[in-house]
Amino acid sequence: MQKRPPGKINIGVGLIVMAGFMIYGFYLIYARDFAPGKEAWIADYAVHPHFEARLAHVHGNLFAFLNIVFGYLVMNLSIGKNSAKWVSGLALAGLLMPIGILSEIYFGLPPILVLIGAACMVLATITLGVSVILMRKRPGQIIENKDA
Ligand code: HEM
Repeated sequence: MQKRPPGKINIGVGLIVMAGFMIYGFYLIYARDFAPGKEAWIADYAVHPHFEARLAHVHGNLFAFLNIVFGYLVMNLSIGKNSAKWVSGLALAGLLMPIGILSEIYFGLPPILVLIGAACMVLATITLGVSVILMRKRPGQIIENKDA
């Protein structure tokens, strides 16, 4: 079986997770415009659980988007196999952050997943940044001759 190049999974999972958090946007519309008790929901805009629901929606879409972008960069820049694997894994683990916000709202869990996911996304970003700076090839060269 052929091995998956690092980054591919980030793009696929990123797109699917983004669709999930977009669909959650429909729930936010329902809660604001149609649900019984919608006046209380609107009045509690900046208070639990409305505030966290919005945080989850926004960070879910953002972190999913970051996975799509990082995945694409990892697949197309010669940052080395090791860095590529770390960036890919850490960015995926970053998705624990918005999932952690949802688990706080709906299961009352402590924010441990939020903190782990946030730390992983910061590390993925730093690792990718440093790897790109240390990269010896210019991006143009890589796209012309990716397998070299
Ligand atoms: C990539 C896609 C999306 C991004 C980046 C995004 C981003 C955001 C942001 C930044 C806010 C916060 C606005 C604020 O704090 O005032 C927000 C709120 C909201 N979004 Fe999205 N959104 C996306 C997709 C969607 C979709 C597809 C829907 C509907 C189907 C939706 C429905 C909503 C609603 C209803 C709110 C208000 C939530 C509230 O009651 O506080 N979003 N979105």
